[in-house]
Amino acid sequence: MTSKKLQNITVLGMGGTIAGLAGDPNNPKEYIAGELGVADLIKDLSHVNELKLDILNVAQINSKDMQVGHWQALLSSVQAAMGQAHTHAVVITHGTDTLEETAYLLQAMGPWPKPLVLTCAMLPANAPHADGPGNLKDALNWASQAHHEGVFVVCAGKVHASQDVQKITTESVDAFTSGPEGCWATWVDGQWNIQSKSMSPTQLQPRPSLAYALAAKHWPRVEIVTNHALNDGAVVRGLLASSDSEETPLAGIVLAGTGMGTASQALEQALQKAVNSGVRVWLSSRCIFGLAHAQANTHWGEITLLSAAKARTALCLRLLAEKEHQS
Ligand code: SIN
Repeated sequence: MTSKKLQNITVLGMGGTIAGLAGDPNNPKEYIAGELGVADLIKDLSHVNELKLDILNVAQINSKDMQVGHWQALLSSVQAAMGQAHTHAVVITHGTDTLEETAYLLQAMGPWPKPLVLTCAMLPANAPHADGPGNLKDALNWASQAHHEGVFVVCAGKVHASQDVQKITTESVDAFTSGPEGCWATWVDGQWNIQSKSMSPTQLQPRPSLAYALAAKHWPRVEIVTNHALNDGAVVRGLLASSDSEETPLAGIVLAGTGMGTASQALEQALQKAVNSGVRVWLSSRCIFGLAHAQANTHWGEITLLSAAKARTALCLRLLAEKEHQS
């Protein structure tokens, strides 16, 4: 009898609801994220018998509190795990709230030589119908089968590509969308049904070397500003006025613009002032599936087709890359 060779997968824990605990399991909305470590998350998974898991708790946070140090710790752990000859893939357990930003960051800092899969949960680990164990099982399964380069998010029986994925609801365990084109794969009848779609083209963004990103104490400060009815530009004027007194001066603004990336006249004037003072401004749309278009008034900003959250990460990496180039 030939014994099947066990596959090694590294599981990195970042916290989130998947590692959260509710004071009263029957009231799962009242919980603390990131209470459990990865060892607790894998202990009841039967599927792990077919795998050999190396585990590491990188952070135990609510992902709303993500800071540069957390991202640096994650990047360096991913780099170390990818460098292990025996490792087939890396799975990351992460909070849902900034998951798309981390997924974008990891994609932008790639390509990685092995599959990289993020997973999460909408219900804490001790809720009666906790979705975390199923999602982690699916993520491990996808990671063990995936031979694609790229960064994926697995949640609620769906595989999303990092450049498409967006959290769109707080009220369902199926919290993510890949937009109108649909997701990469779905779990149907005990197997992955891969949609016949190719990776949507990523806008190649300049990014710093991994070594530079890991060593930089501060990453450039980029803020998101939303246009809305009655917008008088006060937020941008406030950002400019306080910039010098902050530890990290304002380096960029991503406009989450109305419609195809527009701003009120007053906000446009304030953004123009920001550009004049050396702040980089990018335009995106605040619509969930919205794309900023060239028809938007662009003399004060650069169009991006990314969502505002991903564009914020992309602009931060671009500015960091420029800093590295100048150093
Ligand atoms: C978090 O993002 O860490 C909390 C929310 C979640 O995981 O659903």
